[in-house]
Amino acid sequence: MRARVQPLDPATARRIAAGEVIERPASVVKELIDNAIDAASTRIDIELVNGGRRLIQVTDNGCGMYPDEAVLALQRFTTSKIRHLEDLSRLTTLGFRGEALPSMAAMAQVEIITRAADQVEGALVQSGTDAVPAIRPRGCPVGTRVSVLRLFAHTPVRLNGLKSIAREMQQVHEIVARYALAYPQITFQVQHDGRRLLFAPTCADLMQRLAVLFDHEVATHMLPVDWHSVDLLVSGAVSSPSVNRATRQRQYVWVNGRPIRSGLISIALERAYGALMPPGRHPLAVLGLTLPPHFLDVNVHPRKSEITFLHERTVFAAVQEAVETALQRSVAGDANWRSDETLAWSSPWQATPQIGESGTPYGQERAVAATGPWQPLGQVGHSFLVASGPEGLLLLDQHAADESLLYTQLLAADAGGVELPEPLLLNLNAAQERWLDVQQVVLADFGIQIESFGRGKGLMRTVPAILVDRLGASHFLDAMYEAMQRLTPQAAPEDVREHLGAALACRTAIRAGDRLTVEQVTALVQAVSQQRLGYTCPHGRPTYVLLSLSDLERRFMRLFPLDTSL
Ligand SMILES: Nc1ncnc2c1ncn2[C@@H]1O[C@H](COP(=O)(O)OP(=O)(O)OP(=O)(O)O)[C@@H](O)[C@H]1O
Ligand SMILES: [Mg+2]
Repeated sequence: MRARVQPLDPATARRIAAGEVIERPASVVKELIDNAIDAASTRIDIELVNGGRRLIQVTDNGCGMYPDEAVLALQRFTTSKIRHLEDLSRLTTLGFRGEALPSMAAMAQVEIITRAADQVEGALVQSGTDAVPAIRPRGCPVGTRVSVLRLFAHTPVRLNGLKSIAREMQQVHEIVARYALAYPQITFQVQHDGRRLLFAPTCADLMQRLAVLFDHEVATHMLPVDWHSVDLLVSGAVSSPSVNRATRQRQYVWVNGRPIRSGLISIALERAYGALMPPGRHPLAVLGLTLPPHFLDVNVHPRKSEITFLHERTVFAAVQEAVETALQRSVAGDANWRSDETLAWSSPWQATPQIGESGTPYGQERAVAATGPWQPLGQVGHSFLVASGPEGLLLLDQHAADESLLYTQLLAADAGGVELPEPLLLNLNAAQERWLDVQQVVLADFGIQIESFGRGKGLMRTVPAILVDRLGASHFLDAMYEAMQRLTPQAAPEDVREHLGAALACRTAIRAGDRLTVEQVTALVQAVSQQRLGYTCPHGRPTYVLLSLSDLERRFMRLFPLDTSL
């Protein structure tokens, strides 16, 4: 028998972590998905109008509510999920505070249409000024639809605090993707202004869902994780070391079905990769932990996005071991590409260096951070830059270094674009036009604005500030072609951003063979001094090599460096 919605006693209510629950459209979506999952839904439809400002509507096919429960549910601290604080140690649901719906009702108009399985018809309940909302009968299928209308209409400060529609929608996409990865058996759909943004039909397992949500290439490089001890299960998938990212954004973690952010788990995960991961890069991961609820405290964060573990060390060790096992299995199991690739990666970065002809461990110098400061000396072969500093000699690959800088800047900047004095004309085929239309969010992120200019033509009016004197129409079209080739139409915005950012950086970066000005050389060398340059370009090639003083001494057989008389 399903528990009924009831008020919590005041003593319990006081001890629930309090704070801002509804910050933006994505937080409404998150709370409504929580409720739909708690109601055992197998299909969740999310619809937004005008970035969620006009409407956010979530429809599920879960257990529904009785009409009087829907009325209660709109009040603070009413819940069917716990009765007393001690129930948190047995919690199996995502919700427990009885706060989500009333928080929405305080910021917007909320309508609930719901029907419980044993009812012949449903009911409509609307939040409003009346002390007790009216209940009206309504024909509907079993399940619940919650509509949140005109969010923040009466709180202009909040409304003005929202980012662009594109950006808010990106956050919605991100949050739904998190849940879709944690719950492969549930069908998720997101529509915005009548257009489908995401569709993840029910899947047999996580690997299938990955193929839908991650781009195809990435999905094929994910290694399954499946590890358990007596009371801890770690499952999911992690990327093979060759697939990595500049940020930790593509590390998805959930604990007992609750998507959370956890520095602890990220560090444990990355510890498992050790030297297999190039410095400054991060693996992709989708990891679920399952453990008895009394080993957790979920009541620590008002938005329930963080938790604390009772036994942090145990969790850390378990995640590390689970991921290590997955990586080892992949090397041992598949002798074809994976072991080759792992070897290719491990040689430059591994702690035990290989010994070259001269007796110099090669590769080792690259793993050392070059702190500088560096003094530019010049360009060699129109391709490499040389600088000297207290640590020795620094060699840069001008293309890889510039590409890496552009790439990091492009992905980090939440920048508006810069208007071009003359817009760029793009000749587009129908597939490209559709792609540009779908990827507006990502393009806006880069500060790129393209207007339709009649059939088959587009006008690029703004470009990312750092590319203002560099980006030509052909660069953009080439980069777009590359991203379209490599991604599935369902790819998450984060993947599109990565690929398009990398492709744009590659096309617009200084090339090998280009003669550079003193300013250009200085700028690249300074980036190393200021520690802004990553060790590798987006393709994984090194950007610089440090020949340390001790390397030089060895090469010139100055075995006793203090002896200056020789
Ligand atoms: N989609 C739904 N299907 C069935 N019941 C629902 C649904 N949404 C809400 N309810 C009922 O309404 C109650 C109140 O929902 P609300 O989200 O405000 O609080 P909660 O889920 O109990 O806790 P939290 O504030 O942590 O989310 C829930 O406990 C649940 O019983
Ligand atoms: Mg809830």
